[in-house]
Amino acid sequence: MATLTLKEFADLFGIDPATMPKACVDLINKGTWGYSAYPTAERDQIILDFLRRIRDRHFSFVTDGDKKRWIEGWGENLKGFKDSGNVDALLPRYIRPNMPVRLYGDFVKTEDPYFEKHWYEVFREWMFLTYFKGFDHIFEFGCGSGFNVARLAEMYPKSTVHGLDWAEPSVEIVENLRTVKGLKTQGHHFDFFNPDYSLDIPPNSLVFTVGALEQTGTNNAKFLEFLMAKKPALVFHAEPTYDWYDPNNLVDHLAITAHDLRNFWRGYHENLNKLKEQGKVEILKTKRAYFGSLVLEGYSQTIWRPL
Ligand SMILES: C[S@@+](CC[C@H](N)C(=O)[O-])C[C@H]1O[C@@H](n2cnc3c(N)ncnc32)[C@H](O)[C@@H]1O
Repeated sequence: MATLTLKEFADLFGIDPATMPKACVDLINKGTWGYSAYPTAERDQIILDFLRRIRDRHFSFVTDGDKKRWIEGWGENLKGFKDSGNVDALLPRYIRPNMPVRLYGDFVKTEDPYFEKHWYEVFREWMFLTYFKGFDHIFEFGCGSGFNVARLAEMYPKSTVHGLDWAEPSVEIVENLRTVKGLKTQGHHFDFFNPDYSLDIPPNSLVFTVGALEQTGTNNAKFLEFLMAKKPALVFHAEPTYDWYDPNNLVDHLAITAHDLRNFWRGYHENLNKLKEQGKVEILKTKRAYFGSLVLEGYSQTIWRPL
């Protein structure tokens, strides 16, 4: 059985292992990172099931007005949080145990049933510790259950951490983090399809998204225009990125098909690259995740800033 070591984590994050924060090294040392290739019959079964889902179009499809399922999902987290007063209740419920994960362009079987969840904890800690320090304001667009907002507000108590979403329970959770838990947070209603220009993004602000712009299909140019107008100091996207899969790799090819069937975001990088050619943005880093869930690689990095 192979194991993800500090070296592989650094490679997946696109960094020198020596720069990995100690908190992340500790999480890596604590975790169970064994994984192995699937025996042929099992791998075939995973691919066959995937192909059946494709044939039956058994995927949720993103449409512009479809916020009902988010209101329901985050409503459950809001209730759990209100009942328990505990931020652990904010953990999103869509990371399921004992699922195949994708790693370096293949499906692998993991020793830890919660491998993806624990991998994401290291990634998130690394992302927040490495890039999010020293900003007066941090904005998460599409903040969902607010668990990133809660973590950041604990990590950087001097920063104001804003959580924005079009689903009302998300906004309420972020407001509750301030009123109930005393964290320096602010919730705002925000729709990627109709950005609210009255929202103030002060100087020295960081904007980020995690698995949220993925939900915008081909309708994300308005949000990019909004960011260009508001000029945050830094923008960090951790999102599945359509353009970076290899169409000649079977496992990637399945992800591309799933992106298409789910109407996941496309076109943003093309627009961002045009802005780069026009000298209007600086792209500081792009990094394909090479890690993800059964369906896609959700953690590819795009770090940039408007000039
Ligand atoms: C997969 S969840 C990710 C949530 C959170 N960022 C996380 O890491 O758990 C996608 C989020 O995007 C939000 N979203 C989807 N479409 C949106 C839109 N048009 N405007 C604002 N938020 C949207 C959903 O309500 C949901 O909270």
